[in-house]
Amino acid sequence: MKEQLERIYSDAVADIEKAASVKDLEEVKSKYLSRKGEFNEIKKGLKDLSPDDKRIIGSLANDITQKLETSIQEKFRIFYEQELNEKLAKERIDVTLPGQYIPRGHEHLLTSTTNEIVSIFQSLGFSVAPNEESPEVETEYFNFDMLNVPKDHPARDMQDTFYTNIAPNVVLRSQTSGAQIHVMENQKPPIRIIAPGRVYRNENINSRKNNFFHQIEGLYVDKDITFGDLKGVLNEFIRLYFGASRPTRFRNSFFPFTEPSAEVDVQCIICGGKGCRTCSGTGWLEILGSGMVDPNVLRGVGIDPDVYSGFAFGMGVERLAMLKYAIDDIRLFFNNDVRFLEQFKGQ
Ligand code: DAH
Repeated sequence: MKEQLERIYSDAVADIEKAASVKDLEEVKSKYLSRKGEFNEIKKGLKDLSPDDKRIIGSLANDITQKLETSIQEKFRIFYEQELNEKLAKERIDVTLPGQYIPRGHEHLLTSTTNEIVSIFQSLGFSVAPNEESPEVETEYFNFDMLNVPKDHPARDMQDTFYTNIAPNVVLRSQTSGAQIHVMENQKPPIRIIAPGRVYRNENINSRKNNFFHQIEGLYVDKDITFGDLKGVLNEFIRLYFGASRPTRFRNSFFPFTEPSAEVDVQCIICGGKGCRTCSGTGWLEILGSGMVDPNVLRGVGIDPDVYSGFAFGMGVERLAMLKYAIDDIRLFFNNDVRFLEQFKGQ
């Protein structure tokens, strides 16, 4: 029996040696060590031996089983290690390879222009009106009535307003000027606010006009505010935004909610004032409307025009960006062509 055991042992050692894979080794393990394996068969025969032989053979069988278990275990470990090494070699990461380029986004030119304008006015003492005082969906009351634009006034058609089907008097605002009314209904003078936002007009789209664009409204109401203050603030804005050397002009104008009214033009940057498609041949581009707040508007919101006066302005953000960066087509802002947008990274 001893010889039998030793034979099995040496066979097993040879089989372990030969095993070339985890699978082979598992087969070896089950051939010798499983319940139906060869050792168990022998162990079953132990009961027929004398107590002495039982002890000797039994402990030999245990020794052998333990040795086999250890060497099988060791071989398994070698296989796993090999496998792991192969895997690591295959999946090895070359940290010296260049990284994958993920393009980084940036602010849209209209956002950065708006932010720049807002911070200029903040530096002049204006603060941004709360969002709820400057909604994009307005009633005619704020967009027209309270701004001294009567029901049958041609100015209502002048701006080709989009009416909604929410209710007959609900419009997409055609101008940010309604924010003036919201603010004056909620605050008492002194008032010094700006309100940036999107406006909508039912226009035929071309290089100068889009059916939505952006404005920044401004309002300053206090005692003793004069046209001189208006000019001073707007000239300072122009100087800070464009630099001192850009030709600009004040031109008298009309708006129902201001009296007197003025517009500011900046010399066309595309043609240098000679006249081109962008400036409709005039050499100038209008950037803002402004004026002294009409006493009727002040009265409407319960501010006494004999005590207080004020000025207001509304500027076009696209126009201001076009004139600063020589952009000749307003549609470029909205086409999302990255070749255009990328040029204004970090503006
Ligand atoms: N709301 C006018 C427009 O969209 C611009 C404007 C003119 C705004 C005069 C004002 C202002 O605040 O005083 O054409």
